[in-house]
Amino acid sequence: CGIVGYTGANDTLAVLMGGLKRLEYRGYDSAGVAVVAADSSIDTRKRAGKLAVLAEDLIEHPLAAGTTGIGHTRWATHGGPTDENAHPHLGDDGKLALIHNGIIENFAPLKDELLAEGYHFESETDTEVVAVELGRAYRRLGDLRRAFSEVVNRLEGTFTLLAVHSDEPGVVVAARHNSPLMVGLGTGENFLGSDVAAFVEHTRRAVAIGEDNIAVITPDSVEVTDFAGNRVEIEEFEVAWDASSADKGGWSSFMAKEIAEQPDAIANTLRGRIVEGAVEIPELGSLGPDILKDIDRIVIIACGTAAYAASTAKYAIEAWARVPVDVELSHEFRYRTPVLSARTLLISVSQSGETMDTLMAVKYARDAGVKTLSVCNTQSATIPRESDGVIYTHAGPEVAVASTKAFVAQIVALYLFGLHLGTVRGTLSTEGLHDMTRQLLALPEKLAEVLEVTDTVRQLAHWMADTRSVLFLGRHVGYPIALEGALKLKEISYIHAEGFAAGELKHGPIALIEPGQPVFVVVPSPRSSAELHSKIVSNIQEIRARGARVIAIAEKGDAAVLPFADEVIPVPLAEPLIQPLLSVVPLQLFALELSTAKGLDVDQPRNLAKSVTVE
Ligand code: G6P
Repeated sequence: CGIVGYTGANDTLAVLMGGLKRLEYRGYDSAGVAVVAADSSIDTRKRAGKLAVLAEDLIEHPLAAGTTGIGHTRWATHGGPTDENAHPHLGDDGKLALIHNGIIENFAPLKDELLAEGYHFESETDTEVVAVELGRAYRRLGDLRRAFSEVVNRLEGTFTLLAVHSDEPGVVVAARHNSPLMVGLGTGENFLGSDVAAFVEHTRRAVAIGEDNIAVITPDSVEVTDFAGNRVEIEEFEVAWDASSADKGGWSSFMAKEIAEQPDAIANTLRGRIVEGAVEIPELGSLGPDILKDIDRIVIIACGTAAYAASTAKYAIEAWARVPVDVELSHEFRYRTPVLSARTLLISVSQSGETMDTLMAVKYARDAGVKTLSVCNTQSATIPRESDGVIYTHAGPEVAVASTKAFVAQIVALYLFGLHLGTVRGTLSTEGLHDMTRQLLALPEKLAEVLEVTDTVRQLAHWMADTRSVLFLGRHVGYPIALEGALKLKEISYIHAEGFAAGELKHGPIALIEPGQPVFVVVPSPRSSAELHSKIVSNIQEIRARGARVIAIAEKGDAAVLPFADEVIPVPLAEPLIQPLLSVVPLQLFALELSTAKGLDVDQPRNLAKSVTVE
């Protein structure tokens, strides 16, 4: 969910709605706002559906003017996306309004207690229970921060909570436990947000609120304490990007813009990190050469697209650093008593740095005494803060739910780490290192070249708009790319799509092939991967013989594949480990164009959220 809070002399509703617009990628089932009106009453409006529905409602039924307020955009957990379940929720006396991101796991017993005492609830949410608890505590204590202190100690689960109270106009109080919270520092005004996108339009001065802390903002002050009320020092940082980099510009969708930004994103990931042919990553923190020399295993954890970036990088890291690399989904890793040791390095990959499944896995590993490294695209996010070292991908804000530029940047960041590790461990020759860094530096230009296939892919997508199922095949590093191609299509075009290892075809999936079945095949380079290339050409013949319609993503000038493919989408010449970074681009474009051809919302696909901050 997306959360924003404001207090100051600006148009409060405009600030809240502007913040919610930028946060909408975090959830868009329903949205709502509450302000403390001039007469010190709470006025609130909330609606199921996207933010636009709320915006229209606010035109028809304007909200009272106020100088303090909170806003929420929801990704439903407890209770479906209805007007009643939308946030904010009010305390039983209507004097307190609360918004929440996360899940209160013990809400049922708390609710039972309150029901037994005669309280009534308007919604099915866990959040309303907390609103009632806070309202009650306030009546006893007469202080919103102290009410928070008392109530948060009784809550189990995860939460960022933000509340306003009509008896404390000009104050917003927030608390966090395993869920993100940022403060934006203004002049005569202050902001709260689930990430800096909530307020970057107004200020680039930010403070990341630490775990189990409470923040109290007024127009002129920001005070942070722990749950017990002890003062906590705050540390300000400057947000590295400005508001315009999170705008759509002239593009039809954020996803289209972010795909096109890939050459720049990669140039930024590489910037300053390749010096005279060698790799330098100063941010590794305490993960110095002595520790890296000593590790005997790497476990990479991630979810969704980030997990496919990890699977791609596994091939490179093992080849260069000769350390076994296991890639595992964070939520699977966390709950199966994994075997870990002090010589294991755990790398988490997360665009947002807030994915709850991944955060919990990182904490689990850290508590087991394992060293942790985070690959992340979001400055000061929770996962990098909880890790021993961080490599930021610097791809710039990614807003579309379907990840694109962050994916390629994650692979490149992991490659840089792999090269560094290989150097430190002496498993990579100087020529090998220099050759690879040269190829990485040439990548932005090649990415720009592969984007030229956009028109070809668009045509293909138009022809295929009615397709019901698409398969994707790949081998070696092309395999995770096939999986990612299938994921992109599922996410934004709702077409059944599956990725397979091409070698696995004959062990089952080939039964799916019937005349006309479209199959994308990621074809390795005939020059640099001759053996794999001939294997995949055989696979293509096998499916072609059974009527499949083959769309090959193949290296420019690959003549061997032409006789067997219905369509060939060319990608520039590249070494085997670089090729996946190029062959993924036509697959991203295909998903984008097909979703567009079907008239769907490319950036905000149904049921999904960009940043999933619940387990
Ligand atoms: C969500 C998104 C996916 C994303 C995954 C991991 O499920 O819908 O697109 O890949 O989270 O996100 P992260 O921020 O951890 O990379």
